[in-house]
Amino acid sequence: MTAEHSGGVTGEDGPNAAQVAYWNSPASAGWLAEQERFDALFAPLTEAALDRAAPRAGERAVDVGCGCGATVLALARRVGPGGGVLGLDVAARLVGRARQRVAEAGLEHARVELADAALHPFAPTADLVFSRFGVMFFADPASAFANLRRALRPDGRLVFAAWRPLSDNPWFLVPMQAARAYVPPAEPPEPGAPGPFAFDDPARVRGILDAAGWRDVAIAPHDTALRMAAAGDVGEAARAATRVGPLARALADAGQDVRAGAETAVAEALRRYDGPEGVVMPGAVWLVSARP
Ligand SMILES: C[S@@+](CC[C@H](N)C(=O)[O-])C[C@H]1O[C@@H](n2cnc3c(N)ncnc32)[C@H](O)[C@@H]1O
Repeated sequence: MTAEHSGGVTGEDGPNAAQVAYWNSPASAGWLAEQERFDALFAPLTEAALDRAAPRAGERAVDVGCGCGATVLALARRVGPGGGVLGLDVAARLVGRARQRVAEAGLEHARVELADAALHPFAPTADLVFSRFGVMFFADPASAFANLRRALRPDGRLVFAAWRPLSDNPWFLVPMQAARAYVPPAEPPEPGAPGPFAFDDPARVRGILDAAGWRDVAIAPHDTALRMAAAGDVGEAARAATRVGPLARALADAGQDVRAGAETAVAEALRRYDGPEGVVMPGAVWLVSARP
């Protein structure tokens, strides 16, 4: 066992092996390269999710699917040195970045493990299980959420953000439609299949949490504005839109001509979102909370 793997189950041979492979593949490199942009893009909805979670000084939090660690840092600042934060993620490069940021920030009460949150052997010590878009990738979500419940003290709480349907999230949909001439449209995933929109149906989310033994489940819509780029910079917004998610996956092996053509088409489609505040697109999420 390497130090990197200590204390966790990394998941490459487990039920989430396909997602573990995906998040460690070049297709997810965009999350690393675009980390600062996406942290800025998601900042307003992150505040809303954190306000709902209301971490208090001295509390212990677990951040599920923490990626490059933005919310590990935010949680660590809110709970303070008297508390603690454990970030978990299956993507080795993203864990590396998160650890680097934690170290640079001098947040000694935060740590990040390479681990599949569905399998991690939690001790029931946390006050809060939190996630920003990190819980929609489990092959067996009811079993995974039953495991997450084991992380909490009896009076703890769960709060996470997940995307509402694709049709309510033009920042995903419009670039995909605009690039259609350059990348073959992907087969629509099975409803509920692991992926960014796996939790778009609130009835399904409630069913999963009920099956996993959670109670007091509350699912509230939250609308956000995603500032993709500065005013007038639709080219930059198009680059962002093609670096992560389904378009990044579709363009991963594309040649320079195809990529450039797709970016130009996306930039053209984003022009109608360009205004004095920047290239701003609506985003629609669920803020979900529950008790163990
Ligand atoms: C959409 S990204 C969000 C990352 C981060 N929370 C953020 O908001 O920037 C989803 C993250 O979940 C992680 N992930 C997927 N399945 C996971 C699992 N079973 N256990 C832990 N992390 C997982 C991925 O590696 C990825 O970093």
